[in-house]
Amino acid sequence: MHILAIDQGTSGTKAIVVDAAGAVLAIAEETLRPHYLEGGGVEQDPRALLDSVLTAGRRAAAEAGVPLDAVALANQGETVLAWDPATGTPLTPAIVWQDRRAERVCAARAAHTDRLATLTGLVLDPYFSAPKMRWIREELTTDGVVTTTDTWLIHHLCGAFVTDASTAGRSLLLGLEDTHWNGELLEVFGLGAERLPEIVASDAVVGTTTAFGPELPVTGLIVDQQAALLAEACLEAGTAKCTYGTGAFLLAQLGTSAARSASGLATSIAWRLRGETRYCVDGQVYTAASAVRWLADLGLISGADQLDTVAAASSENVLCVPALAGLAAPWWDSAATASFTGMTLSTGRGHLVRALLEGIAAQVAELTALVGADLRAPLSRLRVDGGLTRSRVLMQAQADLAQIPVEVYPSPHATPLGAAACALTALDPSLDLAETVGGWQPSATYEPAWPADRAADHLERWQAAARATLSPKS
Ligand code: G3P
Repeated sequence: MHILAIDQGTSGTKAIVVDAAGAVLAIAEETLRPHYLEGGGVEQDPRALLDSVLTAGRRAAAEAGVPLDAVALANQGETVLAWDPATGTPLTPAIVWQDRRAERVCAARAAHTDRLATLTGLVLDPYFSAPKMRWIREELTTDGVVTTTDTWLIHHLCGAFVTDASTAGRSLLLGLEDTHWNGELLEVFGLGAERLPEIVASDAVVGTTTAFGPELPVTGLIVDQQAALLAEACLEAGTAKCTYGTGAFLLAQLGTSAARSASGLATSIAWRLRGETRYCVDGQVYTAASAVRWLADLGLISGADQLDTVAAASSENVLCVPALAGLAAPWWDSAATASFTGMTLSTGRGHLVRALLEGIAAQVAELTALVGADLRAPLSRLRVDGGLTRSRVLMQAQADLAQIPVEVYPSPHATPLGAAACALTALDPSLDLAETVGGWQPSATYEPAWPADRAADHLERWQAAARATLSPKS
């Protein structure tokens, strides 16, 4: 069996063709550049998203040159747009998950914070879909439907009007236990009159498409982060991964319990497969590769592949809080701004680059500690994937600060491999999911080299720096 698995992400779209044993036969990538606007806006052209899906998918299909059995799609999770359901025409730009402009939508609903957390497992923050959907309705258009990008892309592929449970679970509109759109939540966001997509499982076949050649079933629908959690075989409660993409996202498996976080993290649906809903707890660093790209835009490095050659051996006490798009768990301050502190006349770009990498690692280390507190057992190791895992400096800093081994997933395609696993589950009822995604060996393992007290001291100073970046209201 061969799956065309497409990862439609923030900074690009990747399509792979993979067989049932996980061998990748073809890869095609299309780069996307979000538009960063003053006032915290982050937008994408929906047509560019769709074009990238079609172009990358067709290129991978052609390169593989084998008959395909299904197409799977991983999506960004919380990026939304309004569109005309009759024609599929976008009515607005795609408002990206990093966009902070729905902050006032959240502020106006602050009284509902606890109730929202109880019902959805999420925190009231512009990151999630519903505040941005409301913002679109107030600021851009009242026409058409307003959905996450997966629904729109799937509509273009096969005409269905669906979203999968993991994506719906990122909206602040879903009852976390019953996994249905919730009327009370819809009223809170003034979205009660909206036509919402049907919620399906990640192994539902939602239609067929000829977009990539001969007719193919469309199945294997899942949020990108959750897909990576599955690919990295985080199936047992307490296993965790962090993906260093545009942002960095740490997710830990909870099993079938939707236990709410006591540490300010989010609880979400990991996936629904074979009729079973799995949950995960997650923490977010909103800017990882996008912070690196920002460094490159400033001219401090030519690109991510230069990070390790430019980074100094020590940051010389320079600290960076890379809150370029606000701070997520556990701070939840969308108006927080980034900082570099501790600079002197001897500070050079190498110190700044190292401080930024250590800043990303410190945020993730904080999240590993919080996940451990929620699970009442510290994480024993962290599985990692994503482009920035190529930075040995970042990975070593991660092990040093989190004080646990960091195991690099051997494939750069965790997200599409996870989506492909969902599609394989749909096509082959006898497939053993644990066997399909398990059995991999890390391509590298980073052991902590810092003593625990040095890590604790660094994190304490970093947290003080993070507190100083918070907006006055916090
Ligand atoms: O929550 C947003 C996240 O899932 C986007 O992932 O890979 O585009 O950084 P990525």
